[in-house]
Amino acid sequence: MSFRDFLEQRSSEILHVQKPISKDYEIASFLKQVEPQPVVFEKIKENAYQVAGNLFCTKDTIAQYFSVPRQQVLHHIAKAIACPSTPAYVGSPPCQEVVADVNLFNLPILKHFIEDGGPYITSGIVICKHPKYGQNLDFHRLMVFKTNKMAVRVVSGRHFDTYLNELGEMEVTVCIGAPPNILLAAATSVALGVNELTIANSMQPFNVAKAMTCDLLIPAEAEFVLEGRVSRFERHSEGPFVDLTETLDVIRQEPVMTVSAISHRSNPIWHALLPGGLEHKLLMGMPREPTIFQSVNQVVPCKDVSINPGGCSWLHAIVQIEKQVEEDGKRAILAAFQGHRSLKHVFVVDQDIDIYDPLSVEWAMATRFQGDRDLVILPRERGSSLDPSASEENYLTCRVGFDLTKPLSSKGKSFTKVKYPPISIEKWLNPA
Ligand SMILES: Cc1cc2nc3c(=O)[nH]c(=O)nc-3n(C[C@H](O)[C@H](O)[C@H](O)COP(=O)(O)O)c2cc1C
Repeated sequence: MSFRDFLEQRSSEILHVQKPISKDYEIASFLKQVEPQPVVFEKIKENAYQVAGNLFCTKDTIAQYFSVPRQQVLHHIAKAIACPSTPAYVGSPPCQEVVADVNLFNLPILKHFIEDGGPYITSGIVICKHPKYGQNLDFHRLMVFKTNKMAVRVVSGRHFDTYLNELGEMEVTVCIGAPPNILLAAATSVALGVNELTIANSMQPFNVAKAMTCDLLIPAEAEFVLEGRVSRFERHSEGPFVDLTETLDVIRQEPVMTVSAISHRSNPIWHALLPGGLEHKLLMGMPREPTIFQSVNQVVPCKDVSINPGGCSWLHAIVQIEKQVEEDGKRAILAAFQGHRSLKHVFVVDQDIDIYDPLSVEWAMATRFQGDRDLVILPRERGSSLDPSASEENYLTCRVGFDLTKPLSSKGKSFTKVKYPPISIEKWLNPA
């Protein structure tokens, strides 16, 4: 299902805004105010394109897209990673229906915050290729500073970074307007040499086509495709930018992409992804849930994992286990940290706790947890570059695990929430 098929399928839930709105600050602030309501802006003040946002803000939306229950989403992703498959090839793809002038200022690239260094592409899937490792997909934010030039934020250690360091410069395409299978696949961190398009195809099949000017295969039904080259030797200041934690990131000298071709579908729809918004958080965190699950499941039966937005969908995880022996809570904590290296705090709960309800998790903490007995503290480890409280030079952080599971046997008070007897209240609400 393409990006626009998804919009079509959910049309009854989408808010359509017909009055003209500016791509500079107005769209971003509007989306934030109504989040997680999906919106299509039909008229942009600056150009004739449509913009859609808040599309993939919740795990339920993704579950519906894949037609699986919420608890199965992480298994669906894990299965696709384990069994990748090759997308079908098509000629004359929809994404090349219209070839546009190379002028980035003509596109609906949003300015999000007054503090930002410029207009930013935030939903762009960057595809590149290495003669030895093949194609790679990543997300990279891109800051426009000229009609054909953007600064690309490349975190050190990304596969894109490895490719660029070895090759010096390379062809790239940036695809905007992709469905969740491709978005999630681009956000996974798999072994060097795995083309994430093959993971996306196993989540849900789609077609690829050859880019117009680069030797790269791209999703045939993307809404917009920008083609060009990125050079390690040409750099430009990138930032400030409001990142995942909704705080300002610093200015860095980053590689430059020079755009040489732009194409799009007829009547294309731009995907606006709010920096630090729920959609950004969901796409960052969701691909780490399977890796935490697999790591925990090696030491204790794991039931579910939620990387929740309260923890920026990156720094916190709630892990549900089926405890067998007393030590399982702490073993699960250590395993969860192995499954996601940027994790700072992990909360381990029993099966009667709703891991999607923060009040339920807090209840477990209030009634089952003792700080001097159930806490695991791992001081001064390398954490996330996104955490403003980690040390600035080397991101040292203190990892903390909270074992919120109840003891396997207890004397005295029970640890189980007692349920009220079930009754049907209809007869009191609608007396005959
Ligand atoms: C919405 C979104 C935006 C992202 N922006 C960036 C970015 O600007 N720079 C970056 O290096 N990684 C960014 N990431 C993270 C990487 O794209 C992601 O971790 C990816 O899996 C790395 O792939 P790799 O393992 O092939 O290197 C972003 C992820 C998401 C979901």
